[in-house]
Amino acid sequence: MCGIVGYIGKKPAFPILLAGLKRLEYRGYDSFGFSVLDGKKPFLFKKTGKISQFEQEFPDPNGEIGIAHTRWATTGAVTDANAHPHFDCKKEIFLVHNGIIENYQEIRNQLIKEGHKFNSECDTEVLSHLIEKHFRGNLEEAVRETLREVKGTYGIAVVSKRDPQKIVVARLSSPLLLGIGQDEFLVASDPAAVITHTRQVINLDDNEIAVLKPGNFFILKEKPLETIEWERGEAEKKGYPHFTIKEIMEQPESLENTLKGRLLINEGTAKLGGLEAIQDKLRKIKRLNIIACGTARHAALVGEYMLEEYANIPAEVDSASEFRYRKPVLDKDTAAIFVSQSGETADTLAALKEVKQRGLITLGIVNVVGSSVARETDAGIYIRSGPEIAVASTKATTSQIAALALLTLFLGRQRDMALVMGQRITKELAKIPELVKKILEQDVQIEELAEKYKNFDNFMYIGRKYDYPTAREGAHKIKEVAYVHAEGCRGGELKHCELALIDENFPTVAICPSNSVYEKMMSNIEEIKARGGPIIAVATEGNEDIKNLVDDVIYIPKTLEMLTPILALIPLQLFAYHSGVLRGHNVDKPRNLAKSVTVE
Ligand code: AGP
Ligand code: GLU
Repeated sequence: MCGIVGYIGKKPAFPILLAGLKRLEYRGYDSFGFSVLDGKKPFLFKKTGKISQFEQEFPDPNGEIGIAHTRWATTGAVTDANAHPHFDCKKEIFLVHNGIIENYQEIRNQLIKEGHKFNSECDTEVLSHLIEKHFRGNLEEAVRETLREVKGTYGIAVVSKRDPQKIVVARLSSPLLLGIGQDEFLVASDPAAVITHTRQVINLDDNEIAVLKPGNFFILKEKPLETIEWERGEAEKKGYPHFTIKEIMEQPESLENTLKGRLLINEGTAKLGGLEAIQDKLRKIKRLNIIACGTARHAALVGEYMLEEYANIPAEVDSASEFRYRKPVLDKDTAAIFVSQSGETADTLAALKEVKQRGLITLGIVNVVGSSVARETDAGIYIRSGPEIAVASTKATTSQIAALALLTLFLGRQRDMALVMGQRITKELAKIPELVKKILEQDVQIEELAEKYKNFDNFMYIGRKYDYPTAREGAHKIKEVAYVHAEGCRGGELKHCELALIDENFPTVAICPSNSVYEKMMSNIEEIKARGGPIIAVATEGNEDIKNLVDDVIYIPKTLEMLTPILALIPLQLFAYHSGVLRGHNVDKPRNLAKSVTVE
């Protein structure tokens, strides 16, 4: 689930692996390790903790072939022994793995009976022993036979001093790409690790095995070269203390990129090149299932409201992790939309496979170009946010909502959305990046607010209609980056339960812009006030009255109700970020979480 880097070429491998792992650090990890084929003696170093803690201790191994890993433990505690690379009994085969081997216990028991000695409790270790068992002089053959026996998910990279001039890599439901350089090759689980060397990559597909050698490489089938569109500097902090704040601040540009070239204001619609090939099929669609996880699911919830209200298509949001197990009723007129920043989330991919088996149209709303969701859906919209490095999603979320607004225009205008309505939405969308910029200017005030509220351990976030997903996401963000307990609740549901929690120690963030549910939200705010709960309101500029009712107000500009979530999320992201920093947390890499959740 975490990171893999491998190098084979003419340069010393170790510094390249180290730099690659550092570029993957943003994904969050608990331990790391390297293996370099240093002449006849393979070098191995693995440790729990952060790479930076040990940099002084690293020996400088020679050798132009090596693999490295950052681990996010799924099986076996966070210990040095469980860190990767794992090796065989003779310490001749070294392997790094992302994913999970589901039948490892059974394989391990069998291998122990056959005399293999295990060094760790990690599921991955069975792979190195199975390769040892099947090794008859050719590493890729041994890997191929091994993978036939395992169930689960994997991206792996393997080196061996018994077949030394190669790295063998393979994938199943866990991302892996090859970086194709001049006389050198890299393998990585994420483009960020190869971008300083090459932008020419090949994304491996499931069940493919590739062999990288000093001067050439081969995969079991021919594949085209693809180009990474991200610029190098985009994956760096550019003077900001954290990626989280850098990415929050980048939103005027990331939204601009999502919308660029896609708004047809006169025609009142969106130009979405990725959907053109299937536009006739989309015209016949009668239902939509939108499937996602975590924050992407909150963006999907905004999409549900938009698509029903303006495109007149019944839409339902599913949590990908539930979707496959709840026997969903899907008829042939349904299209499924998969929303994912990374495009590699295991639950989302599993749901996508399930839907494809049933023969439905599948669409992706994805950030990472060439990712699994992007490749396996029939068509889609890239949100073009640029690399999102912080574990907590911010700029991708607002771009996902903007992309769903574009989809609403596209599908709505295919149906009965009036031209004037389409023009109104396109015009308002075009203004969004500028409005976001204005909100970001309040950063200092929001930091002060975070300071004022920093001693509260619980928060309620409430909203109605379009602002309900915003409330959910506001709570999600502060939980994730500040480890503060928070609930995202529908304003109208409060009185059915959550009101019981409210007192002077339980503040509420009320998302209450001036819209169709404003009066109803005021009643909810009164209910909270009557119980002594402190209230921060997110309200529309010009609403002075609200100051008499609540403790603090954050203002956002007026826009269409359907686009308000993009604006209202900005102060909530800033509030969560500053709360996390003030509490002294590692906001970019929250404990226990990973950027790309490639296990179920
Ligand atoms: C977002 O802040 C979280 N880190 C998490 O909920 C995330 O949105 C979720 O894991 C889905 O990721 P995806 O968009 O890459 O599929
Ligand atoms: N399942 C392996 C482990 O627990 C791999 C984890 C990962 O993807 O980082 O170590």
